[in-house]
Amino acid sequence: MSKSANKIGVLVSGGGTNLQSIIDNIHLGDCAAEIECVISNVADVYALTRADNANIPRHVISHKNFSHRAEFEQALIDKLDSYDVDIIVLAGFMRILESTFISHYPGRILNIHPSLLPKYSGLNTHQRALESGDSSHGCSVHFATTELDGGPVILQASVSILENDDAQILAKRVLEKEHIIYPKCVQWLCENRIHYQEGYAYFDNQRLASPMQLEQIQSL
Ligand code: GRF
Repeated sequence: MSKSANKIGVLVSGGGTNLQSIIDNIHLGDCAAEIECVISNVADVYALTRADNANIPRHVISHKNFSHRAEFEQALIDKLDSYDVDIIVLAGFMRILESTFISHYPGRILNIHPSLLPKYSGLNTHQRALESGDSSHGCSVHFATTELDGGPVILQASVSILENDDAQILAKRVLEKEHIIYPKCVQWLCENRIHYQEGYAYFDNQRLASPMQLEQIQSL
């Protein structure tokens, strides 16, 4: 992407609080993106209501209607490309995406994951952090690659794990951080401040040796 690119498509599967945080930041003028469409692989999720409330076109494409993952991914691509989107934002999208989809949008797919990657890729991250006796936990925004939760991390935010935390309480505290870091990364990708190249994330053309941390970047 050489010029600024701000047309985004958002993929969801659930409540859509991350979608909402991006919608809110756009409305506040803090994120110069335009959400062209929202696609859910599950019908009747609240994320779709959030799209309706914001007058964003939304679609349901159920993975259950396809016998092969590649066909499901092609259906997603066909719909997203009909909106001519520049950037794909995975916001609580609970399907694994493989090469058909990922290779169609090279370096243009962001994902948010509720852990401090590379720790706890996959599911049940909050419970796993608690069971491991960790003192901190958090969330990560990364470029999506074909490796599950394995693409280069751009930005993370941490929370302390407190004595009486259970997975639900901890998830809520992490989610508040997700809602800060995800719109910021969407904004950066729209402005071409971040980019992906050969397995690495770059910020302002500097290769990131390690993920940026929210605490360090408040001024950016
Ligand atoms: C979030 O923790 C997100 O990171 C994960 O699913 C959770 C719910 O997200 N992938 P949302 O409220 O649907 O945005």
